[in-house]
Amino acid sequence: MNNPLPQFDAQGRLRHLLTLDAMPAAELEALLTAAESLVAAPGEPVHYPPALEGRTVATLFFEPSTRTRCSFELAAKRLGAQVVNLGVAGSSTVKGESLADTLYTLEAMNVDLLIVRHREAGVCAELAALAGPHTAIINAGEGRRDHPTQGLLDALTIRRHKPDFANLRVAIVGDIAHSRVARSTIAALRTLGVADLRLVGPAEWLPDDHAPFGGAAQFTQLEEGIAGADVVMALRIQKERMQSAELPDFASYFARYGLTEARLAAAAPDAIVMHPGPMNRGVEIDDEVADGWRSVIREQVRHGVAVRMAVMLRLLENNPHPHDMI
Ligand code: NCD
Repeated sequence: MNNPLPQFDAQGRLRHLLTLDAMPAAELEALLTAAESLVAAPGEPVHYPPALEGRTVATLFFEPSTRTRCSFELAAKRLGAQVVNLGVAGSSTVKGESLADTLYTLEAMNVDLLIVRHREAGVCAELAALAGPHTAIINAGEGRRDHPTQGLLDALTIRRHKPDFANLRVAIVGDIAHSRVARSTIAALRTLGVADLRLVGPAEWLPDDHAPFGGAAQFTQLEEGIAGADVVMALRIQKERMQSAELPDFASYFARYGLTEARLAAAAPDAIVMHPGPMNRGVEIDDEVADGWRSVIREQVRHGVAVRMAVMLRLLENNPHPHDMI
């Protein structure tokens, strides 16, 4: 499949990070390996060479975020960049011309990297098409379509625990249809060689179109779907992307799909449990599992900082020219 999005330059170098769809395996591996070398040890002081000194990073979030926004900011600051955060969460009116103008305004201030979260798919590609030669765009989660840095941090987390991707069984549980995390994580895992991917959830949340989900097998019964799985990933119910009539009764959802220690007996004995956060405890996952020995949920968060550092370094290494003086 050709990549229709302008995330590579004419030399095939990554210019923007918009999607993991059709991302070459070598590029994914390079990003994961770079990220792995940047993972901070728990509780240790964090010291990195200031490779982004003199660079400016702006975050522009039109949807709420805790992990993604904070980790981009910390990643940029730990590498010595200056960071400006535009607090536009909640606003859905800033788009079209005004979003383009926001880009031009930030470019006039020599912003090198613009990190964007938006409820509409396609906004980051539009901005990438408008961006000047020295500005890179990173998609920090767009509609229900892409969340590439989440896909990378999930792949890194799995790789650190279960590196034999060819023999891995991965089950993703919950609200698949509305999930950009599912799509990006699946894109990464497929490219990295995971053959046995399973989607588990209520029929109405399993995608009709199998292609963007890597043709993964679908299950409506939890125990059947997670049987023998090495990795079980729960997803948040994306209430904000549903009409109220589509919302489930949370107690009955938990009864059928909530991850509990008892139900995880169906998975591989050493299965790890993941969740991109934010979690709805008692709906998607039981406290005992979220805080238990199988959970790598906080590692995912830790890896998110490293992945975002690696992505920023990669994009700016591929675009080393300083801004022209205005
Ligand atoms: C996810 C997102 O925003 O897509 N959160 C995150 O970035 N860790 C998942 C979610 O909101 O459910």
